[in-house]
Amino acid sequence: MLPLCLAILGLISSSPCTAAPPRDYVSDLQSVLTTSTRNKLLLISFDGFRWDYDRDVETPNLDKMAQDGVKAAYVTPAFLTITSPSHFTMLTGRHIENHGVIHNMWFNTTTQEKKQYYMTQFVDSYWDNGSLPIWITAQRQGLKAGSLHFPGTAATYKGETVRVRQVEPRFYDHSNETEWRLNIDKVIGNWFHQQDLDFVSLYFGEPDIAGHSHGPDSPERREMVRQVDRTIGYIRDKIQEHGLTDRLNIIITADHGMSTVLRGGLVEEIILSKIPGFSFRDIQFQLLDYGPVGMLLPKEGKLEKVYQALKGSHPHLHVYKKEEVPARLHYSNHPRLPPIILIADPGYIVNGLLPLNKHKGDHGFDNENMDMKAFFRAVGPDFQKNVMVDPFDMVDVYPLMCHLLGINPEINDGHLNSTKYMLLPKEETGGDNDTPEKNTQTKVVIGLSAVTGFLVLVFVITTSYNMCRSTKA
Ligand SMILES: *[C@@H]1O[C@H](CO)[C@@H](O)[C@H](O)[C@H]1NC(C)=O
Ligand SMILES: *[C@@H]1O[C@H](CO)[C@@H](O)[C@H](O)[C@H]1NC(C)=O
Ligand SMILES: *[C@@H]1O[C@H](CO)[C@@H](O)[C@H](O)[C@H]1NC(C)=O
Ligand SMILES: *[C@@H]1O[C@H](CO)[C@@H](O)[C@H](O)[C@H]1NC(C)=O
Ligand SMILES: [Zn+2]
Repeated sequence: MLPLCLAILGLISSSPCTAAPPRDYVSDLQSVLTTSTRNKLLLISFDGFRWDYDRDVETPNLDKMAQDGVKAAYVTPAFLTITSPSHFTMLTGRHIENHGVIHNMWFNTTTQEKKQYYMTQFVDSYWDNGSLPIWITAQRQGLKAGSLHFPGTAATYKGETVRVRQVEPRFYDHSNETEWRLNIDKVIGNWFHQQDLDFVSLYFGEPDIAGHSHGPDSPERREMVRQVDRTIGYIRDKIQEHGLTDRLNIIITADHGMSTVLRGGLVEEIILSKIPGFSFRDIQFQLLDYGPVGMLLPKEGKLEKVYQALKGSHPHLHVYKKEEVPARLHYSNHPRLPPIILIADPGYIVNGLLPLNKHKGDHGFDNENMDMKAFFRAVGPDFQKNVMVDPFDMVDVYPLMCHLLGINPEINDGHLNSTKYMLLPKEETGGDNDTPEKNTQTKVVIGLSAVTGFLVLVFVITTSYNMCRSTKA
């Protein structure tokens, strides 16, 4: 009897089920259950696709997608409304002052060195500043993630990169429709279909370029929206072709909108060198001529002088000490932000010495401005059909994506409550084929509980029996 007791005792204490805390066991089980109902997710960004770009062009494929899925009035991007910061908000759900990718350009205020958008992609320490993009979180939780051309793809985060990735070459033609189709074939046919990835982010550089060069109201921009629309048709056809329609959710959105730049004799442009009392000799470091936001680090002891000279110098220029930037913009609380931030009103650009910026359209403006709002569409097995939802913030896309993928989100600034209306109730999303698996799981739980209960009972009886014996002896 005693050897048997010891054997049972050993079995109880070494069994992984009883050794692990019950909570872990339950969450393991939950993750098994979610795996069986999880659909794949494709996040697509069309750079600079303003919320209302479908209003003055025929967009049959976007219209069809809205019938089959969800259309939001618009999304409010994070501020600063430019490409890399905004895309990193999409991937992390954090405001820009919290994720630290504060500009498209990396810079060093000591050495004056600046890197343009493309080269900044490869500065790991710039991107890896405390917030993990969703690819890494998904991979840590056992999912397979991929990314094509999406800002942030090239960087390493806490020693880990998105495992399946394609970074564009230095001088890539972001407008070539044939290239777009080749990339789509790779993502749908190879990554999702053959390699069975769970999540992919896919980036297109248009209609941003057309909006900058020709302005948001130009025929060239409208033509590019037609190209985007054809592309959406192509993507949905490819998904259908590979039998993924019922297993793949698609979110299509953008990083920011686009606004017409006012110039010529129409307006008085903002040119810092012409402002009385302002001198570049007082400036240690400047980031100017890059759209409507400028940044200045005055030399030692010159902060007040520079600030007073600029403040009130132009009716369309807002001059802030870093800590004065309106809290709703979430763009003041990061060590990378220099002490003076300049924000121009819609239509204006912050120029340094001369008006160098020749763009007809630009972005970077206050995210309350309607021209900065981005579009948002979604379709797939977890989404409602033919539903129009209220606007929400870009930070809210991240919790939505984590929810769809069944992963635990990192700390973030978004809320699921503003996007959950676009989802089907959970019961309806799981197909019939989930039921047998759930039943199996339930049986396993009941079985394990029964065995454990029996062993505990044996243990209690044996122990008390032995105790009785030793007391008697
Ligand atoms: C900027 O350059 C200085 C001098 O080389 C260096 O000490 C500092 O770490 C650099 N800062 C960043 C953010 O790279
Ligand atoms: C983020 O970057 C700033 C300055 O570039 C640095 O001081 C800070 O330690 C970084 N934070 C993290 C968590 O990497
Ligand atoms: C577009 O890309 C395709 C495929 O790479 C290439 O063959 C074609 O020459 C490109 N077209 C233009 C106009 O550059
Ligand atoms: C979502 O929840 C947060 C925090 O509870 C709240 O501040 C926010 O107003 C809610 N948003 C909506 C759209 O209900
Ligand atoms: Zn952009």
